[in-house]
Amino acid sequence: MTADEGKFSSGEPVPVGQDTLGTMTIGACLREGVERLNLAGIDGARLDARLLLADAIGKETSYLFGYPEKEVSKENRVIFLDMLARRINREPVSRIVGYREFWSLSFQISPDTLDPRPDSETLVSATLDLVEGEIHPLRILDLGTGSGCLLLALLSDLPNATGLGVDISEAAIEVASTNALNLQLSQRASFQTGNWCEGLSGDWDIIISNPPYIGRHEIGQLEPEVLEYDPPKALFAEEKGMKDYRDLIPQAAKILKEGGLLVVEAGRGQSGEINRVMANAGLTCMPAIKDLGGIDRACIARKVN
Ligand SMILES: C[S@@+](CC[C@H](N)C(=O)[O-])C[C@H]1O[C@@H](n2cnc3c(N)ncnc32)[C@H](O)[C@@H]1O
Repeated sequence: MTADEGKFSSGEPVPVGQDTLGTMTIGACLREGVERLNLAGIDGARLDARLLLADAIGKETSYLFGYPEKEVSKENRVIFLDMLARRINREPVSRIVGYREFWSLSFQISPDTLDPRPDSETLVSATLDLVEGEIHPLRILDLGTGSGCLLLALLSDLPNATGLGVDISEAAIEVASTNALNLQLSQRASFQTGNWCEGLSGDWDIIISNPPYIGRHEIGQLEPEVLEYDPPKALFAEEKGMKDYRDLIPQAAKILKEGGLLVVEAGRGQSGEINRVMANAGLTCMPAIKDLGGIDRACIARKVN
């Protein structure tokens, strides 16, 4: 508990109906939120309550620490309580507030896009390490772009690069295009619907992809936050999660430039098989890069003649 939250007595009653609601200070609202989320068994209750309250009152989280004594209006309290109820129902905070931070950039998300995962930043950093010092303008293709997070993160760090994001979901493409506009990257990023590389021609310097890779047999292991809120099209692949790698890697190998890089995200335990698929497609595999949890997350191969 922070010093600010500690100012409020722990026995304070929690209102149950909206007609009992009055104004409350930021500190008291926070305490109420943490209590409700903890009671519901939500991991990370304190952080979630802060993020939700900040969004409900339209301020940064730093404002909550700076002004714990400020009053939250009745209207904003109703919004906050509604957000808490959604979180207790296991809806992720990012879905409730409608955006997710990825690579220190803010991405709008929707029910049609995967909620970008911190582990996927491993692909961005691995790619940037490999192209460090490149001076010619790179062309980047992002297969299964979703919110556009991988492509737009790369473009934000590579000011001379341009890119195309492809997704089978038209609704996801709309979200990715909005994100490009919001991040002022739309001059260098375009997006289109498509089935992996179908209809695309060659000469890409970098092809990056985080395809669906969860096998149907793993459904029972998924948290409700994933199973009930991420679009199934973004999660599941046949052949124990390998089908989309087997489809897209040979296609990508054909349209990669000589010397170009293919970087794909791997699920736990999949890197060996992905490397075999890459090698069979004529690519030269490099050691996989691990995420912060020590799992092989970015499988990388180069097209070498
Ligand atoms: C795991 S999500 C990754 C989204 C985003 N790149 C990210 O890392 O957050 C996989 C994406 O692939 C898209 N997808 C699935 N099958 C596809 C296909 N055959 N062709 C193109 N995109 C596909 C899904 O719609 C989804 O947006």
